[in-house]
Amino acid sequence: MKKHMLLIAALSLSLSACSFDQWTNQEEPNVSASSSSSKKEVEEKAEPALNSEEKQSDDSETEKQQSETNKEQKGKDGLIVVNDPKSAQVVVNKQRKLPDGYIPPDLTIPEVPFYFDEDLPKKQLREEAAKMLEEMFASAKKEGIEIVAASGYRSYERQKKIYEGYVAEYGEEKANTFSAKPGTSEHQTGLAMDVTSAKMSFQLDQSFRQTEEGEWLANHAHEYGFVIRYPKGKDDITGYTYEPWHLRYVGKDIATEIHSQSSTLEEFFGFQPAGD
Ligand code: DAL
Ligand code: ZN
Repeated sequence: MKKHMLLIAALSLSLSACSFDQWTNQEEPNVSASSSSSKKEVEEKAEPALNSEEKQSDDSETEKQQSETNKEQKGKDGLIVVNDPKSAQVVVNKQRKLPDGYIPPDLTIPEVPFYFDEDLPKKQLREEAAKMLEEMFASAKKEGIEIVAASGYRSYERQKKIYEGYVAEYGEEKANTFSAKPGTSEHQTGLAMDVTSAKMSFQLDQSFRQTEEGEWLANHAHEYGFVIRYPKGKDDITGYTYEPWHLRYVGKDIATEIHSQSSTLEEFFGFQPAGD
């Protein structure tokens, strides 16, 4: 199975060496100025409202988050430094960064298919997120949905390289619409995983949403505690353009509520919109 996938990858990648270089070196989607406007959105299914018991547990998570938020300080750059970086509910965005030198605990490699074989750091996720990712991939596979993992944990230094590469290629303004400055990427929390599929030639592109895999994730990721962190049309709130491939682990209750409200982490926790 793995060998089969690798063969497909090798074939498709040898056909487009240019995008392969960009993709492997920088681990981010190919970006074109018209990439979001030409894509047709598939309607998302509404989910039933939570019962009162589940709602109570969400409320207490929200209260916990808010009391942590009250203690937060601003760094010299004017960004808020989050003081709960290890929480599965941590909100990191253009206004909220991780403490200097933060490395998440309990990083582990989930047993799911990746588009590459080497044990690179980007295979890692925090333990709970990794376990839930495995469950999600297994359930999808039972339904014939073949998801492939692309990029999880990134150190501050790795994100710096990726971000600076994009600034050099596209200019800072454009880069800021899809790539996070070091210290502000969810990938540094160990709670985010970019996913793709063989049908996508393992690329990260907004058209992923129109594939079976993208559709399945949009409808089921919350059941395993993941949200599509940067939804379509929420750029002003999240600060980033649509990324149907970027899954963020937050836990089942909150993910379910965010999904049923077609919401974002910023809206759920009542944070300021993070757009520039
Ligand atoms: N692409 C997301 C925003 C990141 O760079 O973390
Ligand atoms: Zn991502």
